[in-house]
This record gives sequence, structure tokens and C-alpha cells, in this order.
Amino acid sequence: MKNGPREVLIIFGTRPEAIKMAPVVQALRHCPDLFRVRVAVTAQHREMLDQVLTLFGITPDYDLGIMREGQDLFDVTVRALTGLDRVLQETRPELVLVHGDTTTTFAAALAAFYHRVPVGHVEAGLRTRDKYAPFPEEMNRHLTAVLADLHFAPTERAREALFQEGVPAARIFVTGNTVIDALYQVVRPEYRFADPVVRAAVASGYRLILVTTHRRENWGEPLANVYRALRRVIDAYPDVAVVFPVHKNPLIRELATAAFADCPRLYLTEPLPYGEFANLMARCHLVLTDSGGLQEEAPALGKPVLVLRQVTERPEAIEAGTVRLVGTEEEDVFQAAAGLLENRAAYERMAQAVNPYGDGRAAWRIREALAFYFGIGARPADFRPVAAAAGRSRG
Ligand code: UD1
Ligand code: UDP
Repeated sequence: MKNGPREVLIIFGTRPEAIKMAPVVQALRHCPDLFRVRVAVTAQHREMLDQVLTLFGITPDYDLGIMREGQDLFDVTVRALTGLDRVLQETRPELVLVHGDTTTTFAAALAAFYHRVPVGHVEAGLRTRDKYAPFPEEMNRHLTAVLADLHFAPTERAREALFQEGVPAARIFVTGNTVIDALYQVVRPEYRFADPVVRAAVASGYRLILVTTHRRENWGEPLANVYRALRRVIDAYPDVAVVFPVHKNPLIRELATAAFADCPRLYLTEPLPYGEFANLMARCHLVLTDSGGLQEEAPALGKPVLVLRQVTERPEAIEAGTVRLVGTEEEDVFQAAAGLLENRAAYERMAQAVNPYGDGRAAWRIREALAFYFGIGARPADFRPVAAAAGRSRG
């Protein structure tokens, strides 16, 4: 039996992975006698990743710096894979932890497999069962599940999906989603916004719609439709303003700046630091997004979400009534937003604090599960999500 702390290498590369892995890094580092944690970032994202590292005080042990403007999936995969080969040779960890469904996630799981290092997959078991939606995420998470040895499922549904695919039950731990751990760390009723644009928007008294977009399958015409719908909403409702922190992807920025030139009550901003963004979400009226993470965070804050996609791998909040899939057709998006802006009862029905994704202790459960895996702790009890119960909202 090995003495000393277990060597865990945590790998991530994009903003959402960093937000959702930060609580895991913190939880494991809280027990230095049990775990020695090192962090490697591919830096598939740069500025958007660095914002999160700064907020949570994480200094990576390895930073591959692979981001290039507008690079494609082949570039990201190859740079991440070859960069991680060196990191794994140097660190020789006993376990690699990856998160979610990005190209970094898949490349890191594959690199670990090539080095015969076991893989733990955080946020495992999300599925649409549509190979191309979201693209390439649905396939990234499938492939990562095949490579993984431990699966940290955020919900019972995710556990069931993995079990149906043949993952042994003993290898799955239902933990809740670590995004709720991160959210609870940063959302405060007394929060004071640092960004002058956000401060002005919050102080304006308008009903704020918070918008984010980035999904690959929405690039081009689908996003143009969505942006046209948003302009119509702004024109039709003079008491409404839109705050839109624009993703760094140049394709998204071009479309958004062209669509909203000279648009009143439309605050286009740079990607916001997580603390600013989460607290803005806690104060907004409505969320329109194609993001994955926002579908988990906004319900916990009691904010209705219109999802600009055809399918979602996160049906729990739809079933609980706070999230609606509206697609990307101009008329559908406009009607859905208008319906909620006009019909108070419909709005109130969606604006419940519902939290099927966690109680803020997911990272702690992952630590317990890892201790069990390494033979230094008892098997932890699973998290039992309470689908429609009022969440612990601090907004
Ligand atoms: C990636 C993930 C997606 C995840 C999303 C979260 C893949 C294939 N996609 O999509 O699953 O939901 O992140 O946002 O893994 N850029 C910058 N600075 C940054 C970040 C991005 O300039 O900090 C620009 C670069 O030009 C980059 C481009 O955005 O090439 C696209 O980034 P990339 O990571 O390839 O894809 P995303 O669309 O961000
Ligand atoms: N987010 C942020 N600043 C922003 C926009 C989003 O901190 O300007 C956070 C958001 O709260 C969520 C995560 O980034 O936790 C979502 O990232 P993204 O939409 O890029 O990726 P996805 O969740 O779709 O993978």
C-alpha cells in the first residue's frame, strides 16, 4: 500500500470547465495529507479561462497555451494531446480528473489512457442521443465515458444513462453538479458590480434580459435569427434592456456587433468575470442562452431560461418548469420572450428557485468518492437531488 498523498492531476481548458473544476481543486487541496493535486490547463480558452483562474486563486502547474485565434477542432485536439503527453510523462499521476465535454476533456482522457493512467470524469452522463447536437460535445462526452474509470454524475438521470451504456454501477457516483458549489461561493445579495456597463444596466430600472450565445451548431443563420428576435423584443418593450456579454469567438463577435449596431437598451460587453456574471444573473429578469452551464445556474437563482437550441442534455430543469427549449427560429424566440414579458402568471410559474443540480457540496462528494477509490475512505452516500424543491438561492 502506497504511503503519502495520492497524486491527482486535474486537467481543463475552457471557462466552464474551470468554473466547475475550481471547487474540486479547492476540496482536494483542503486535504493535503490525502491528495497531492496538480493542475494542467490546455488553455483552449485564454482570457476567459484566466478570468476564472484569477477569481478562484488557481495557479496552474502546467499551462500549454494552445489557443490560437479561430482554430478548428483538429488544431485543438492535436495541440492538447501532444502537450498533455509531456505533462503526463513528467507528473506520472495516479489519477487524471477531467470535466464535461469539451475537446480538452476528450483529449485529456485519451492522453491519460495512452499513459495507462485511470480517468475520473466529472459531470458524466449528460446525453442528448443526437450525435451532432451539441457538436462536438455529445460525442466528446460519450468518448470520455468510454475512457473513464470513475464517473461523477450530477443527477440520477445521468447515472441511469451511464448505467444503460454498460458502466458498472460501482463506478458511478451521483454527486450533484459542482457548478452549484461555484455559484454559491460567488453570489451575494450585497454584491457590488465592478464593471461600469453592468452597474449602469442594473441601476437602469429596466427589466434585464441576460443573453449569451456560442454553440457551434448555431453559428451563422441560427444566431442571426436569434439576434433579429432580440431586436424585435427591444423595440416592442421599452421597459426592457438586454445585457449581452459576447463570447471571444470572432465569429460570434462579428455577428453580434453587426446585428446590434445602434440598438438602444442593448449593453454589449466583454465576457464578464464569473462573480460579475453570476450576480448579474441573480438580478436579471430572464435568461436567453445556448449555454450549458446557464441552464443549471439560472434555475438555482429562480430565473426563467429560454434555451436557444433544439435539444438539451439537461432536461431536469425543463421538467421542473424553469427552463424552456425554444430553438433558434426568429418568430419562436420572439414569441417565447414576449409571452414571458407580458404574462405575469406564466413568468411566475417559471421563476421558481428550482435546483435539481446540486446543494453546493458536489466537490466534497467527489473528494469522498476519490478517497474511497484509493482505499483511504468509506463509500460515500449518493446525492439525492430533489427535483422541484426550492433551491438555496442567495440572489
Ligand atoms: C468551447 C468548447 C465548448 C464549450 C465552450 C465554452 C470545444 C470544441 N468547444 O467552445 O464545448 O461549451 O468552449 O465557452 O471544445 N477565444 C478567444 N479567447 C478566449 C476563448 C476563445 O479569443 O478566451 C476565441 C479564439 O479565437 C478561439 C475561438 O474563440 O479559437 C473558439 O474557441 P474554442 O475553444 O475552439 O471553441 P468555443 O466555441 O469557445
Ligand atoms: N459565464 C461567465 N461570464 C460570462 C458568460 C458566462 O462567467 O460573460 C459563466 C456562466 O456563469 C457559466 C459558464 O460561464 O458558469 C458558461 O460558459 P459557456 O456558456 O461559455 O459554456 P457552456 O456552459 O455552454 O459549456
